[in-house]
Amino acid sequence: MVRWRNYIIGICTIAVVGLLGAVCFFFWPHGLPDVQASKAQPTGAELVARGEYLTVAADCAACHTTKGGKPFAGGLAFKLPFGTIYSPNITPDKTVGIGDWSDAEFVRAMRSGVGKHGEDLYPAFPYTSYALLSTDDILAIRAYLTTLAQVSEPAPENALAFPFDQRPLMRGWKLLFMPWGPFEPDPGKDKKWNDGAYLVEALAHCGECHTPRGLMFQRKQSVALSGGNVDGWKAWNITSDKDYGLGNWSDNQIAEMLSAGHAKDHGVASGPMREAIDLSLSKLPRSDIEAIVAYLRTVPAVAGDPDLKAMSRQNEELTAGSTQVSADTQPGKQIYAGACASCHGWNGEGQFNSRAAILGGHALSDPTASNVVRVVLQGSSDHDAAPGRTMPSFAKIYSDEDVAALANYVVEHFSGRKGTVTADQVSEAR
Ligand code: HEC
Ligand code: HEC
Ligand code: HEC
Repeated sequence: MVRWRNYIIGICTIAVVGLLGAVCFFFWPHGLPDVQASKAQPTGAELVARGEYLTVAADCAACHTTKGGKPFAGGLAFKLPFGTIYSPNITPDKTVGIGDWSDAEFVRAMRSGVGKHGEDLYPAFPYTSYALLSTDDILAIRAYLTTLAQVSEPAPENALAFPFDQRPLMRGWKLLFMPWGPFEPDPGKDKKWNDGAYLVEALAHCGECHTPRGLMFQRKQSVALSGGNVDGWKAWNITSDKDYGLGNWSDNQIAEMLSAGHAKDHGVASGPMREAIDLSLSKLPRSDIEAIVAYLRTVPAVAGDPDLKAMSRQNEELTAGSTQVSADTQPGKQIYAGACASCHGWNGEGQFNSRAAILGGHALSDPTASNVVRVVLQGSSDHDAAPGRTMPSFAKIYSDEDVAALANYVVEHFSGRKGTVTADQVSEAR
């Protein structure tokens, strides 16, 4: 009885998926779009300057330039559960870059995630956000990319396991999860809010990191911006919720975090966020940052796992001996005294450096300490801070057990919560 039912369910599922697949195959827009710039589009040097601004705001370099590599030559590895893909070269080289792409092909790639030869691209390229860009803005980015130095080195070949190397599979996914058209300003809201919405949702693609993902890697838009995960780093809840998100931050604190990477009483940004700030957000005009803040204020509040509520001990309470910490974190405390207190102090205030003022940081009250473990292993991603002020990597110096005890100590000392990091988790994070 039960077996028959399973068969029937199985056959129906295959039929539905097959049908959906066939529908997607024929109807997903692979044709070339019509790409007329509007009358408002600038030309010449002004167009290139606009394109440069947009390329920075969209942070194309974060993924298309490797550390120490040639600008926009690609080659950055993206490790997915089913293999590795590499970002392509998007310099104007005609053979390995995008020099011989037409404007229409470029617009199609950004808006529909389709490559030059009609192949479906993987959403590690955040076209689900870029699809919201206006045609004018995509063409301006294109105009800027055309002025870059050509690099004739190809990016490495992708290595994906079957069936994930079958690009047409992406068609069904796109049909379900892609936005259907460019961003439409909300006439009921002012220009600042609309500019902020465009930056957050489209250009600066905050949701690609800050929105949780479902089983099919899709962003769960019903709980947009309520906290995601990037390469093991937690990208915190940035909705307007008072306990879990930014609801109790002042406008100025949010603006400082976005443009400088640290905010009074809310700690610092590290890892992928620090990188987004260094390469992109810190270079935006103040008016853009203010627009982002105005929009974030209106993102519906979403609560979360009670463990992820931000919490912090008060500065005055914190000295070497003032906090009760579990016995198993004692080795962590010793490491903190020797390797960390010189920069961070016992009270988490930056010694000689406001960038090291970590007290109040969301990362310090997360029991799983994912971000603390990663910043200890990787150090600071800060590109141009003076030597002696940047956080070094401690990966080679400390064992997995050391790092686990240290991270648990940091969480307990600064927030009063008990850390739950194990040596195995540290080993995985390496
Ligand atoms: C989060 C990382 C990420 C960001 C940010 C990003 N890309 Fe990509 N991009 C990728 C990856 C990965 C691929 C390859 C996808 C694939 O192979 O299916 C890609 C593919 C492309 C392609 C297709 C190239 C080809 O040869 O098929 C173009 C064009 C492109 N990106 C342009 C851009 C532009 C322009 C920006 C900024 C507006 C940008 N990308 C931002 C990761 C990124
Ligand atoms: C590449 C991924 C990525 C992108 C894109 C990104 N963020 Fe983040 N963001 C993170 C991560 C990871 C953290 C946590 C950093 C830490 O704990 O040190 C973070 C932290 C933050 C924080 C601090 C939150 C807190 O509770 O401490 C704010 C505010 C923030 N991001 C806002 C934004 C906004 C607004 C955008 C878009 C303009 C954005 N982020 C784009 C990954 C990202
Ligand atoms: C040379 C100074 C220096 C030393 C030593 C140092 N740090 Fe840092 N640390 C920084 C700076 C600067 C930042 C801000 C990161 C940035 O700007 O990218 C930071 C950031 C952090 C953060 C914030 C992570 C987040 O995502 O919010 C934590 C936690 C941290 N350090 C812990 C430690 C621990 C534990 C040690 C000892 C093993 C240590 N640091 C040693 C300078 C230092």
